[in-house]
Amino acid sequence: ILAHNYQTPEIYNCVADFVGDSLQLAREATKVEAQVIIQCGVHFMAETSKILNPNKTVLIPDMRAGCSLASSITGADVRLLREKFPGVPVVAYVNTSADVKAEVDICCTSSNAVKIVESLDSDTVIFLPDQYLANYVASQTKKKIIAWKGACEVHERFTGEELRRYRENDPSVQIIAHPECPPDVIAEADFTGSTAHMIDWVRQKHPKRVVMVTECSMADNVQAELPDVEFVKPCNLCPHMKRITLPKILDSLVYMREEIVIDPAIAERARRSVERMVNLKI
Ligand code: 13P
Ligand code: SF4
Repeated sequence: ILAHNYQTPEIYNCVADFVGDSLQLAREATKVEAQVIIQCGVHFMAETSKILNPNKTVLIPDMRAGCSLASSITGADVRLLREKFPGVPVVAYVNTSADVKAEVDICCTSSNAVKIVESLDSDTVIFLPDQYLANYVASQTKKKIIAWKGACEVHERFTGEELRRYRENDPSVQIIAHPECPPDVIAEADFTGSTAHMIDWVRQKHPKRVVMVTECSMADNVQAELPDVEFVKPCNLCPHMKRITLPKILDSLVYMREEIVIDPAIAERARRSVERMVNLKI
């Protein structure tokens, strides 16, 4: 059972065999020895596991667990982008469908996006589908970034103004943000990183009070490990992640449902862009 950092504590702390961010889950999927993987996360994460394990059974407890980023773009959109910008390499955030992954040069996650873009031999890079992650990457590299205009429905709701209010109430509070947040939010943050990097930051710095500007369950999960850190919570939940529940996981185990199936020809092409990322070891 592989679970994302946004799963609720009874899944994250009690039934998961492995927890992590998107990159860690993709890496773990390449090492799993079991014949069946249950992916507690959203659909694109389960698809990534299936892409990397075509001969294994990959189950997701609720097939409707989508993602506003993944649904913002199709493979046909990527083909049009390639026509518009011939020769420009295309990087896809893993928060995309297999259909999109099949059309791009390489995948990335929020953990390695800057390094992946830097690794490409081109001054200009098409980055999709998250405009805010693209903004963040553009702020960290000299390369020109052409961005798709998708957004995460959870992170786009945070505002710089609400974070400034937290600081006014307590100037010593630490603010850490996921790079899917809009630029005015990132500007207020003391640290920006993937979900795993945010957790590591809290483990290492051990702040007295911290605002984790990301999906709300993550603070509950880390709170269990670090009871003396106070998590101040602007609580935005991802409705897709929250479709995964303990009873549905039990159903997956008992009835072997719901199985991820990908057209083998698409999976084969998508595997190239995911493996290119995983093999870069960055
Ligand atoms: P991470 O790769 O940072 O875990 O992000 C995945 C995600 O969906 C964030 O909203
Ligand atoms: Fe997608 Fe946002 Fe939910 Fe992550 S939090 S799965 S990016 S909708």
